[in-house]
Amino acid sequence: MDEEALRQDIAARKRDHIALARHSNRPKRNDFDRIFLVRPALPETTSNPANTECDFFGFRIQAPFFINAMTGGIKEGDSINQSLCRASERNGIPMAFGSASFVELNPGSLKGFVEARELTSQPVLVNVNANTDSGIVKLLVKSLDPIALQIHVNAVQELVMPEGGKDWRWKEKIGKIQEAAGIPVIVKEVGFGFDVKSIKELAEMGVGAVDVSGKGGTNFCDIENSRRGKGDFSYLSECGFSTVQSLFNARFARQLLSIPEGDPVPMPDVISSGGIRNPLDVLKSLALGAKWVGVSGEFLSTLLESGEEALAEEICEWKEQLSGLISLYGQPSASSCQQIPWICDVELESYAKQMARLVSPGEV
Ligand code: FNR
Repeated sequence: MDEEALRQDIAARKRDHIALARHSNRPKRNDFDRIFLVRPALPETTSNPANTECDFFGFRIQAPFFINAMTGGIKEGDSINQSLCRASERNGIPMAFGSASFVELNPGSLKGFVEARELTSQPVLVNVNANTDSGIVKLLVKSLDPIALQIHVNAVQELVMPEGGKDWRWKEKIGKIQEAAGIPVIVKEVGFGFDVKSIKELAEMGVGAVDVSGKGGTNFCDIENSRRGKGDFSYLSECGFSTVQSLFNARFARQLLSIPEGDPVPMPDVISSGGIRNPLDVLKSLALGAKWVGVSGEFLSTLLESGEEALAEEICEWKEQLSGLISLYGQPSASSCQQIPWICDVELESYAKQMARLVSPGEV
């Protein structure tokens, strides 16, 4: 395929993703409903609107959640990013651009990212695929001044995507991008979650954070499957670990890394994303060990259905409600929410027990 045809192809795919994600039926219920936080009847706290504030890679932000990667590089995508950047600015939360690897093939598309970036003084994340050239990574870091770089790993999506690649040897490439970027790197899934071994390997590679982006929200198997002419993959719709299962997996990885064996390897920060529907899902993520929480589909649908003002208001409401929830559950701040005790239903308990059995050293 010549370069112009490839450019057209990628631009069309980005348009499809927005349209299909907008009309996709995200599940109403997901594994967050299987987690029960222990609420003290005597919380001994008082209302404190600043209790949601926290650090994000050294930058003070107003809440521990952010707008996660979706789009950019095409006209519709740039306009969405402009709205998302304005919502980030108004609410003091970070915003992640969707994949900017397209800049390699279409250098003119950098301008749209730069114009949106100028609309927020909050930290932004720039997103690339693992095959992105080091020179492009450096250009993106220089032009967009991100606080960290996201590298997406999306093997299930690539398998189902009609034009998807099948070379999934990514570890060495992630290492090269990490070197070129010179800023913390976040390795993220796109809705299929993370297993224990991969998290442990990324820790050993020294990545800054892992965004587990698990099953339970936007489903890229369904989205890519609906773009296929033939060769149905709908049986993979339930593939992957849910976000909650992935957060359990991160806890197991932390345990494995803490077993003394030479120099201890620090555990990367954990980001929870995939199926975050409301501030309670944010709180549950923090209780399960996430430091920050990413939201994509929910915010995109508010923006596209109800407009930019409605999105800014929704984020403002989430901050206020999360602040109330942090106090309700007896905590002084977002960063102490890992202390909230929790229990889960039998299905998740069985998952955790079986995974614990697998996670004896050498077996995962
Ligand atoms: C995405 N997502 C995504 N992720 C990524 O790393 N790079 C990308 O370019 C995109 N593109 C993209 C487009 C659209 C329209 C959507 C809705 C999502 C995936 C996203 O960041 C997230 O991992 C998943 O959507 C799961 O989170 P939600 O949507 O359930 O909150």
